Amino acid sequence: MSEVTEKELILDSDQVHQKIRRIAFEIYENNFKEKSIVLAGIDGQGYALAKLLAKEIESVSPLTTLVLKVSLDKLAPLQSEVSIDGDIKELKKKCVVLTDDVLNTGRTLAYGLKPFLNIEVKKIEIAVLVNRSHTTFPLTPTYTGYQLSTTLTEHVESGVRKEVSSLFALRISSSTPIAVSVHQKPEVKKITTHRLQEMKNRGEKIAMLTAYDYSMARIIDGAGIDVILVGDSASNVMAGNETTLPITLDQMIYHATSVVKAVKRALVVVDIPFGYYQGSSGEALRSSIRIMKESGAHAVKLEGGIEVKESVLRILSAGVPVMGHLGLTPQSIYKFGTYTVRAKEEEEANKLVEDAKLLQECGCFGIVLEKIPATLAKKVSSILTIPLIGIGAGPDVDGQVLVMQDMLGITQEFTPRFLRRYADLTSIITGAVEKYVDDVKAKSFPNEEEKY
Ligand code: KIV
Repeated sequence: MSEVTEKELILDSDQVHQKIRRIAFEIYENNFKEKSIVLAGIDGQGYALAKLLAKEIESVSPLTTLVLKVSLDKLAPLQSEVSIDGDIKELKKKCVVLTDDVLNTGRTLAYGLKPFLNIEVKKIEIAVLVNRSHTTFPLTPTYTGYQLSTTLTEHVESGVRKEVSSLFALRISSSTPIAVSVHQKPEVKKITTHRLQEMKNRGEKIAMLTAYDYSMARIIDGAGIDVILVGDSASNVMAGNETTLPITLDQMIYHATSVVKAVKRALVVVDIPFGYYQGSSGEALRSSIRIMKESGAHAVKLEGGIEVKESVLRILSAGVPVMGHLGLTPQSIYKFGTYTVRAKEEEEANKLVEDAKLLQECGCFGIVLEKIPATLAKKVSSILTIPLIGIGAGPDVDGQVLVMQDMLGITQEFTPRFLRRYADLTSIITGAVEKYVDDVKAKSFPNEEEKY
């Protein structure tokens, strides 16, 4: 075995668990009309993944699962039989999800499909934990835990423990493929403002989402989010207000404290709410100190450019990292009148560029650019050296931020062009609650096993 030159853990066991849980939700979402689903795992780690997925699917949905092992000689699939360890007739009209841990060339999965082509299954989907984006066979996974772009000399490996509770995926740089298994959970490398700058410098995009409570923050931190914003959008999505203006500093600190407790890796940035920094720089400093001291957050964010210069400088002088926010600044909604795209006209665009330069000169570690033309964001990006995080600002920035409830399909009425929905949780939650109501009414919940 050759020596490991360098290895990098891409997903720790918590993160892998989150990916598997997410895939389980997606499988349910795509198959919610089914009663059962077949998980066919490629012998080895693919089979272990199928068992983990089955467990998660059964915990997040009413679907029952059948787990099968697909055996083949991965090096000589044509010379060997491709078999499954169950009664093939049982698969008729069933939805099958073929699983493997890592999608390399796609050869194993392509041959692994063979037994299912001899029977009239309803559909076949493919789930992989890691997709290396190197397929040479015409395969696109239906569900991907983690997408990587690796060189051919890198070897990616996952390790699934027998007790199915922990699974590791590794990225290993080596001239030849090597087998390495890791049995210890490594230290989580926390995201800092310095790491964000490094990410920007090497062209790695920064993924940021909002969160306002412990449970959701735990999930998104485990799923690998880089920055969590405890946004004053909590005023809209958590409290049901029409604007961000009513939320108080105490309420922001409450949300931030819950988020910080959940987070192991992400940088936690907290919005200073409307009315707690505009009055004076002393007030801005006091608000920031309260946020940092009482919640344990890592940085604050405030809206505006030249108007808040003194406040930004004063907060920074106390050693508190500051993130700026330009473009559509929702705390000024009554000044703008609408939530439409900002800085389309030259004058406002020029002011935005000057404000961005000023915030960088003051020492902000990053700036959110909200709802501005992509060309303007690109221009700002070509001038500034600190990370720029866009929301409706196009692709030429260093990262993206979305409000979590919007991207998960919890908020239904908010449909701006920039929003991509990654799930339809409203349907999933509605389906689950309807089923629960039915079960309670029909007296089928709780059953014999669900009582003491
Ligand atoms: O409060 C918030 O959620 C925000 C994002 C939209 C950037 O400021």
